[in-house]
Amino acid sequence: MSDVHVKFDLASTSDDQVFLPPAPLLAGAHVSGLPSYQEIYSKSINDPDAFWRSVAAELHFERVSNKGLEYNFDMRKGDIFCRFMDGSTTNIAYNCLERNIQKGLGDKVAYLWEGNEPSDSYRVTYQELRDKVANFSAVLRAHGVKRGDVVALYLPMVIELAVAMLACARIGAMHSVVFAGFSAESLATRIVDANCKVLVTADGFFRGSKTINLKKIADKAVTLSSTDGVEVTSVILLEHLKRVTVPQGAVLPKKEPLTDKDFLYETEMQKHADKESPVEWMQAEDPLFLLYTSGSTGKPKGIQHTTAGYMVYAYMTMKCSFDAKPDDVYWCTADCGWITGHSYLLYGPLMNGLTGVWFEGVPLHPSPSRIWNIVDNYKVNKLYTSPTAVRALSALGDKWVKETSRSSLQLIGTVGEPINPAAWLWLHKVAGEKNCAIVDTYWQTETGGHMITPLPGATPTKPGSATFPFFGVNPVLLDAEGRQIEGPGEGNLCFDRAWPGMLRGVYGDKERFVKTYFAPFKGYYCTGDGARRDEDGYLWITGRVDDLMNVSGHLLSTAEIESALVAHANVAEAAVVAAPHDIKGSFPYAFVTLNVGEKLDAKLIGELKQLVRDKIGALAVPDVIQEAPGLPKTRSGKVTRRILRKIAEGCDTGLGDVTTLVDESIISELVNGRNRLG
Ligand code: WTA
Repeated sequence: MSDVHVKFDLASTSDDQVFLPPAPLLAGAHVSGLPSYQEIYSKSINDPDAFWRSVAAELHFERVSNKGLEYNFDMRKGDIFCRFMDGSTTNIAYNCLERNIQKGLGDKVAYLWEGNEPSDSYRVTYQELRDKVANFSAVLRAHGVKRGDVVALYLPMVIELAVAMLACARIGAMHSVVFAGFSAESLATRIVDANCKVLVTADGFFRGSKTINLKKIADKAVTLSSTDGVEVTSVILLEHLKRVTVPQGAVLPKKEPLTDKDFLYETEMQKHADKESPVEWMQAEDPLFLLYTSGSTGKPKGIQHTTAGYMVYAYMTMKCSFDAKPDDVYWCTADCGWITGHSYLLYGPLMNGLTGVWFEGVPLHPSPSRIWNIVDNYKVNKLYTSPTAVRALSALGDKWVKETSRSSLQLIGTVGEPINPAAWLWLHKVAGEKNCAIVDTYWQTETGGHMITPLPGATPTKPGSATFPFFGVNPVLLDAEGRQIEGPGEGNLCFDRAWPGMLRGVYGDKERFVKTYFAPFKGYYCTGDGARRDEDGYLWITGRVDDLMNVSGHLLSTAEIESALVAHANVAEAAVVAAPHDIKGSFPYAFVTLNVGEKLDAKLIGELKQLVRDKIGALAVPDVIQEAPGLPKTRSGKVTRRILRKIAEGCDTGLGDVTTLVDESIISELVNGRNRLG
């Protein structure tokens, strides 16, 4: 068994940009100093059961079995599976709330909520949150939700979203949170896939100065679902707009009429305020939630996480990667519509008994100082955000940062996409005033929690590297033939063994689960990312190696965008690739071949963009749509995206081998077409 990846010796590095953990974080950290990380890492690899069971012992289990981590990653040896502490029972919502209240944290602030407008704020304690959760779980039960059902949550970043997620977990129903920026069609697809009977949503919200009429979208999704054979029976509607400040220049959306499926959130809460709604003790391997993520074949995948493994992993990664301490004021800027919001805004911080900031707004509204003002107002000491936000903020100049204090900050984490060294160094020098640990965490919706990450009191960091694996995780780099690359080199990033927080399946599609993650390299979980290991054993994520693209930290499927484009009557074919973008990391660049006689004018471009917005959501709209007289294809009819990607990047030459193409002349036409776009 190799622990080669963590044998780094600071004295022997040839790298001149290595940053040591800041002294205040090193002292008293849960994992203090590199030798301590190396020692614990070795233990976690050599005896994973002992390691993870000792972590689990820090949480409440109603019943504890003698099982540890059981799994098979090799499809040649039988079914792919993973089980953790099978036969034990527990409840994650209980571990977030009741367990902390019993420890005396009832009056501690669980969340400081700050709205889209800085004037809107309130706080909620652990006890208040527990009471709301118990109350809402009674509402869900009254609407027929039972253990094992899936409830769709389509809400802005309000505390009621936390309440609804925890209420589902309390009664053993799976939540399926759908990001409120997704379209009606996207929401409907997710409702239908998991047969959701209950939808929790809101009338609307403001995002910066934009108004979002959420109910209108939700109503449309309910109608679309019904056409697709899934009848939502109850829509629980939160009236959010009446309690928030209308941003300057914005107007309240038109009030949508209530339908006979609508039940007002507040009324339902009052109606069921006194009902008993006990905690369900869940089997360790009972499903906890679904969260949809893009798939390379187009249709989103419902990633399924289970109770005990996800719980223990979210708890432990939160504790170590952010060195969670009782006095922390911790702020994760992610939306709960993404996995980061699940693991590191909701479950991780609550299980660790922290005070968190729950933010409804956007980083640049009403000014580019907003993030730092919030840090100062609440004395945030640990901040978790995205490279896209960092690049957007740094592009506006240092003035907005410099006029704030940020003296409370000790740690800044990032997630979602590779962080370029310039953005990393900006965080370190400008935002962090050289006092903060910069924690670049690599992981995925599927992994449940951090996989490769520095630990703030232990790991010397290099700008742009996610550094070393988390406890119990063994990353391997494989070449195209599946051979392990030992030592320095670059390859497909895979994991050779299970970890408690890993997904247990793709909802309703076992075959896709196996095919996506375990078929590419037999015996390994395949991430779909490339990575490089340097001379010191540091890991550097190089980006996706499949047909997914990462735009502002959000994974999008090229196939899904293409199928939206070809839904237009004038489009014969479409190919979408990722093109580099200074702030977003990359953006969707679309090539479309039109039917004979059609022309790509401004009107058609507008229609195509609208189509993508309607079918997926604003985040997937291509920034550039270029007309392509034809697409470069191999003799077997496969579109060569590698060449399209180069063209979108702006290359005229060095497009690689084009001799296998059916029609080479297409290339120069596409290059000329791109140059005409400017
Ligand atoms: C990318 C987000 C480089 C990667 C938690 C991965 C990263 C995908 C990093 C998962 C990082 C995430 N450095 N790339 N620190 N973190 N990624 O499922 O391509 O939304 O596969 O989960 O984001 O995105 P997802």
